[in-house]
Amino acid sequence: MTIYSRLRPLAFKLPAETAHDLGKRALRAAGATWPTRATLRYAYRYEHPALEVDLFDTTFPNPVGVAAGFDKNAEVTHALTALGFGFVEVGTVTPYPQSGNERPRLFRLPEDEAMINRMGFNGQGMERVKARLEREGLPSIPIGVNVGKMNSSNEEEAVEDYRRVFDRLSPYADYVVVNVSCPNTPDEFDEASPGHLRTVFETLEAENDADRPLLVKVGPDSPAESLYDLVDIVEEFDLDGIVATNTTTSREGIKSDRREEWGGLSGKPLEDRSTNVIRTLAEYTDLPIVGVGGVDSAESAYAKIRAGASLVQLYTGFVYNGPSTAREINRGLVDLLQRDGFQSVEEAVGADLE
Ligand SMILES: Cc1cc2nc3c(=O)[nH]c(=O)nc-3n(C[C@H](O)[C@H](O)[C@H](O)COP(=O)(O)O)c2cc1C
Repeated sequence: MTIYSRLRPLAFKLPAETAHDLGKRALRAAGATWPTRATLRYAYRYEHPALEVDLFDTTFPNPVGVAAGFDKNAEVTHALTALGFGFVEVGTVTPYPQSGNERPRLFRLPEDEAMINRMGFNGQGMERVKARLEREGLPSIPIGVNVGKMNSSNEEEAVEDYRRVFDRLSPYADYVVVNVSCPNTPDEFDEASPGHLRTVFETLEAENDADRPLLVKVGPDSPAESLYDLVDIVEEFDLDGIVATNTTTSREGIKSDRREEWGGLSGKPLEDRSTNVIRTLAEYTDLPIVGVGGVDSAESAYAKIRAGASLVQLYTGFVYNGPSTAREINRGLVDLLQRDGFQSVEEAVGADLE
């Protein structure tokens, strides 16, 4: 029995956001000094050459990253590195600090191995994130920065929001993600409409002198036709990849009474839905895909890789499985690759596609 499996029942008695804040505080303390980081690294890091992925002009030591939303303000990138993750996506970062929606706004659904959140882009804003990255230094693994808009912004202001966060934080990022798929921020306009996407991508590419890899994050609830339209625009503006997927508004098959809460559902019930989106995208485009949604084991990570994801990320699976999550997934991935005769993760990407 691991320490986390003993602590989890206690943590799960607390409101979800309180437990999450405590966990983050512990991670921040553990990541703050060299000896504590080294202890974590010794206990949790797992390395194997087959896990390395060369993508976006950098090397990911393994394909298992932390999804956006967990480290919104770049407070625990060093601790997450020591826990053996292959990369961290910081954010969503907005131009100014924002308090997000009223609490409670994060709910666990243990019967479904899921969570519902309607955080609403709470965060400290780009200046504090920039200052922290400067002060604490970048981790040794790649980081992505997920950029977002203020909740109060109209369509025109939103474009300027993305531009400003991109301008401020892209120098620190190995890749940047435009998040146009959050189901729990109040939008006066359709963030994913072709017209808006074109303006956003055009503005960011004009700003992108350093040629930073730029990706877009999509939701899991769009029909294939809309995904194809999106890929066409992504290719038109020469973006570098797609993160699939964000949380779902669907409550199909959910047992918990908490299903009545509004917001985005993540975790196990999202797994197949997001893998299907990855497959649909990968069958249509050669753009790299970062797969996210319900990853909590080597098997679930491997299914996304075989469906076409070059990297995977997780949030909910980390909450349910604790600090050994990355190590266990990576160990299991090496076994699965060997079982199927692949020399590397890269060889297995898209293996299930026709
Ligand atoms: C509490 C919470 C906050 C999140 N915040 C963000 C966010 O700020 N930006 C974003 O792009 N995705 C956000 N997400 C979505 C995750 O990045 C991910 O796409 C989704 O949770 C599916 O992955 P999972 O099933 O592994 O959790 C958030 C998810 C959760 C649970």
